[in-house]
Amino acid sequence: MPLSPNHPLVDGRTSDSSLISAYRGEKQSTPPVWFMRQAGRSLPEYRELRVGNSMLDACLTPELASEITLQPVRRHGVDAAIFFSDIVIPIKLAGIDVEIVPGRGPVIANPIRTASDVAALRPLEPGALQPVIDGVAATVAQLGETPLIGFAGAPFTLASYLVEGGPSKDQLRARTMMYADPQSWANLLNWCADVTGEFLRAQIEAGASAAQLFDSWVGSLSEVEYVKRVAPHSKRALSHLRGLDAPKVHFGVGSNEMLQAMYGIGADVMGIDWRIPLDEANRRLGGTVPLQGNLNPALLAAPWKTLEAHVRDVVDRGGKAPAHVLNLGHGVPPETDPAVLTRIVELVHSL
Ligand code: CP3
Repeated sequence: MPLSPNHPLVDGRTSDSSLISAYRGEKQSTPPVWFMRQAGRSLPEYRELRVGNSMLDACLTPELASEITLQPVRRHGVDAAIFFSDIVIPIKLAGIDVEIVPGRGPVIANPIRTASDVAALRPLEPGALQPVIDGVAATVAQLGETPLIGFAGAPFTLASYLVEGGPSKDQLRARTMMYADPQSWANLLNWCADVTGEFLRAQIEAGASAAQLFDSWVGSLSEVEYVKRVAPHSKRALSHLRGLDAPKVHFGVGSNEMLQAMYGIGADVMGIDWRIPLDEANRRLGGTVPLQGNLNPALLAAPWKTLEAHVRDVVDRGGKAPAHVLNLGHGVPPETDPAVLTRIVELVHSL
């Protein structure tokens, strides 16, 4: 089913925005800018709204999710909103007992480690994604010409949480299952691909104008492992967007040795972490792929002169790519002074 006639990409609200144009490969005179994790703990107005609501309850309350999504757009004047949710929302909606423990991350009550654990996983029930759909629709109704980015976790990152039971240093237990029980591994990643793919599809159909797939922990894999045992499932996740003409961004941390393979799953744009300069990322991708990134989050607390020089350097190097969207090389650290983010947006828009 194609996008509906009143989708922002179809009725013209966001189709010519600087973000979507850059994602489609048209170089902009100044790069559009947004920040991964712009919605959340760096904002006092977020912390105020969250009082008395657990993280995942806030994600599943459409009015709250929508208001939190809009906060950084109002405050910073960024060129895109990213939907306030979490990568574990679709697995929660599919029946997994998961909680987000402050300062730690997602914790799974009953980790998925055996063939029978995998066999017991159930697909999303019809209607399970309704709170997500309502949250996106309420947000898009207020965003006007600012595009909303929908997102999802890639199967490997989700499977890492499910197998490990929570955050882990190097995803060793998950990577072990890949070899100890390859069939259960493949089944688990297919399940993850389908729930996360449906979560992403629901956001696009409800009005998001672009999609970002986060494979945060992919950097613990070798390229061969990625290509053989992970990439086919990431491709399957994106295949849920078939027929929906919205640009797809793929981002991983520590993944600069496998940018080509990550691009190859069907992405349109590559997100780059802070570890290599964008002109080098552009070279590795053959000079044909729009790039997003890659301010070093560690510099957000540096003196402004140092940070300003870094922003200008990233914009210069990004200018070598076919198109560039300015972002961080990973999420906004919670202790970031929000005024610094606003100042970066003002600087980039003035270049
Ligand atoms: O980018 C945005 O502003 C949109 C919202 C968003 C959140 N999580 C909200 C959130 C997005 C895009 C995510 C994605 C996400 N969640 C990823 C991929 C991106 C990345 O950072 O690599 C991952 C790995 C997760 C899992 C997760 N959720 C972690 C590791 C944590 C941090 C735990 C902590 O407290 O340090 C979370 C919690 C989370 N997700 C918070 C927010 C705003 C903080 C929790 C809170 O506010 O109480």
